[in-house]
Order: sequence, then structure tokens, then C-alpha cells
Amino acid sequence: MQAQMKRLEAAFQALEKQGWFVWDGFLEDRLARRLRARAEHFWQMGKFRRGRTGATRTTNAVREDWIAWLSASPTHPAEQAFFARLARLRAHAAHRWFISLPEIEAHYARYAPASRYGRHLDQIRDRSERVLTVVCYLNPDWCAQDGGALRLYTAQGARDVLPVLGRAVIFLSDQLEHEVLPASRPRFSIACWLRRRSVFPLLAMPD
Ligand code: OGA
Ligand code: MN
Repeated sequence: MQAQMKRLEAAFQALEKQGWFVWDGFLEDRLARRLRARAEHFWQMGKFRRGRTGATRTTNAVREDWIAWLSASPTHPAEQAFFARLARLRAHAAHRWFISLPEIEAHYARYAPASRYGRHLDQIRDRSERVLTVVCYLNPDWCAQDGGALRLYTAQGARDVLPVLGRAVIFLSDQLEHEVLPASRPRFSIACWLRRRSVFPLLAMPD
């Protein structure tokens, strides 16, 4: 628990300083494998749909993933455990940033070999309810030759992060541009957004 708290502190310090953080073991292997099995099950049941750029995604970037949304109040134990992990981030944001992030959007994503998602921002600045993006990876035995890195366009240049099992990449949704590079194997993840409430409080002051 103490170690967890240290990681949370480190994550939020990094978010404040550089806008992104890579958290290895955000999901323990067992949980990540159960979520992978769940995603594969949905895939086999034909529950995935093509990802779209459009209403919520304000970009024309090439997008080739297939996605399946998670329920906002999941009943599956692995998904509940996953939401509990996200709730820790939310609680820490409330404590540290005095910000309420009551809403979660989350979808499984599957990228077929050679598929990609071009450089984009998850939100338009100023319009954004999405505050934090959390992408969790569900790929056992992934190595550099498999490709499929998430490329982050940071102030210090491009940083490539491999989609290895249990790893999470957390970043500020309205600030960090990123891109999914093609892989040689099917690549599974869960992409989530912790959101502010859709209607701004009346007392919110413009900058
Ligand atoms: C997204 C996205 C990154 C990834 O879904 O918006 O950027 O690594 N996903 O799957
Ligand atoms: Mn994105």
C-alpha cells in the first residue's frame, strides 16, 4: 500500500512536470491477463466496432483500431477490479488537484497487424471534458521487434513506449500528442478517460 502511494505521488509529480507518466505493473499480470481474455472473448463474439474519429475525437488522423466499450458500471469482476485501479487515480486527483473526475469512459482496443492510429490529441483544448488519458496494455510477451509502440510527442522529443502487459501510460488528454505505430502481432489495450462532469459548474471562472 505504501509502495502504491509512492507510485501515485510519482505519477502525479510527473504529470505536473511533463504531462505524462509510464507506470509498469499498474495492473498486476493476473488481472491484465484476465482482461485480455475478456477482450478476446468480445472479439470472438463480434462485439468490436471500428474506432472512429469524429464527434468526440477532434482529429482527422488515420485510425485503424477496433473497439468495444466497457460498461460504466461493470459487473465482470476483472473489470470491477480495473475500475477500482482507476478510482485510485481519481481520488488522488481530487486530493492533489482539487478536481472532480466523476466520469469514466473506457474501451478495449484491438489493432490488427500493420494497423495504426496517426498522430493526434484526444481532445480539443478548451472543449475538453477528458482530463486524463490512461492506456493499459494487455499483451503478454511483447518485445521491441513486435513494434506497436505508443509514440508520445513530448517537449523533450518523441518517446516510444511498448505495449507490454500490465503497463499503463497516463497523460493529460488535452496536451500530449501521440500516435500508435504498426505492430506485427494483434495488439490489445484498454483506453480510458477520466472526465470532468459534462456541465461546468456555474461558478467556474474563465481564465
Ligand atoms: C487512443 C489511443 C493509444 C494506444 O485510443 O486514443 O491513443 O496505445 N490509444 O492504444
Ligand atoms: Mn489517443
